[in-house]
Amino acid sequence: PPSLIVHGGALSIPDEAVEDCRAGCRRALEAGWAILARGGGALDAVEAAIVVLEDDPTFDAGIGSHLNREGRIELDAILMDGATLKAGAVAAIERVRNPIRLARKVFESCEHMMLVGAGAEQFGVEQGLVLCDPQELVTERERSAWRRCRENSHAAEHHLAHRHGTVGAVALDARGHLVAGTSTGGTCCKLPGRVGDSPLIGCGCYADIEAGGVSSTGYGEA
Ligand code: GLY
Repeated sequence: PPSLIVHGGALSIPDEAVEDCRAGCRRALEAGWAILARGGGALDAVEAAIVVLEDDPTFDAGIGSHLNREGRIELDAILMDGATLKAGAVAAIERVRNPIRLARKVFESCEHMMLVGAGAEQFGVEQGLVLCDPQELVTERERSAWRRCRENSHAAEHHLAHRHGTVGAVALDARGHLVAGTSTGGTCCKLPGRVGDSPLIGCGCYADIEAGGVSSTGYGEA
């Protein structure tokens, strides 16, 4: 039978955010499950679930991602196929609303496994994705958190006080196809160019039909 798991990050979720996190995860499950339930593929289900989580400002992925030290968003994402062990990943992209969609383009249509920064965005345009204004991804919550961090010399307690979660999904479809995916805005006030665990095979994501699938979360350097 088909199976689907989603997550919205590992952190001590503040009481006031618990319901938003639950609701976001439920919506992501519904989007992915709608595809699996009608016999659709695991790749489509994982992409659909993660798009919902990226579009939800509750999570640290897509809209609502943490800002880096310069006040900009840099996004990482990956998809991995458990049948072939093939993956597609992107890192440090700024102008893509749904990084998981770009990771899929890399997975399906690129000779390389990972693209970063402007080169990744250029590849996305060539593949038909429309770039966004980076400001469209920035929420007032994250802008004011960033200001607080900056005014306090980026002391760790300010970063920790407003953490939100990396997102991910793993799906097994009716044909036994297993896919995992992860998407993140990375850590609060990271240095520009920092890439964490999320878009790396065996760190932020892994899928192998013989072993299982996983999307991980937490502090990437650890
Ligand atoms: N696990 C997300 C990150 O550290 O970037």
